[in-house]
Amino acid sequence: MSAENAWGRRYLMCPPTHFEVLYEINPWMHREVPVDPERAREQWEALVGLLRQAGAEVEVLEPQPDLPDLVFTANAGVVNGPQFVPARFRNPERHGETAHDVAWFAERGWRVDELPEGVAHEGAGDSLPFADVLVSGYRWRSDARSHAPLSAITGVPVRSVELTDHRFYHLDLTFCPLDDRHAITVPAVWDRYGTAVIDDLVPEPLVLELDEASQFVANSVVVGRNVVMPACPPRVGRVLEKWGFEVAVADVGEFLKAGGGCRCLTLALDVDLSGGGARS
Ligand code: ARG
Repeated sequence: MSAENAWGRRYLMCPPTHFEVLYEINPWMHREVPVDPERAREQWEALVGLLRQAGAEVEVLEPQPDLPDLVFTANAGVVNGPQFVPARFRNPERHGETAHDVAWFAERGWRVDELPEGVAHEGAGDSLPFADVLVSGYRWRSDARSHAPLSAITGVPVRSVELTDHRFYHLDLTFCPLDDRHAITVPAVWDRYGTAVIDDLVPEPLVLELDEASQFVANSVVVGRNVVMPACPPRVGRVLEKWGFEVAVADVGEFLKAGGGCRCLTLALDVDLSGGGARS
């Protein structure tokens, strides 16, 4: 028997009021492919609906003009109990987001602890809990040398995985913790060390093929036994069902134009690896 994730029932999300593809900072973004604002709004609302139906609470970050990627709240920072560690974005295009993220958390009583200056780290997009460690990706957006300070600040062991394929520039496009035994994984885009780390951690992985990963299948949100996914190939659905999960597919096609799916649009607020109990 496997135990459900202890986190993933409360999320921060940001409506796509100002969402567009204004610049290109990952291989999926093309300025000439326009976003349909109405469809984006509908898709975002439908995702919120599915998460609530799955039993999650959703809190809202106010959208801001000229910050189109603020919708991808996964990158705001790392939440650990009463602590919020804001991202240090690689690309100047996203630097303006941090002040809004920090204000949201500070106003609600989180303690804000910062990573050293000059070290890139893109929050939960590159750091996901599994068991009692933080699995953290690096290379395209987060620096490998962010991992030691992240571990020192949070008190949580960090395990590093290098992302070798630029299309999969954040860890959350390649790794999705499902419960204490299972995770969706894409070892084809990890270095040998990272692959061994996850091999060691995850007793039963659901290994994706590259074509499945390219549909953002790993970029899913897990709420207890519910998985909300951008796409679910039949093979993946059968395995998830066998493991006792219920799948819902959320069409996030407008957001894929910016290189983000379901998980990228959410930041779990109830992660607590400090052993200090859940924040109320
Ligand atoms: N356009 C955004 C960027 O390139 C997408 C972020 C996706 N976020 C994620 N957690 N994978 O930064």
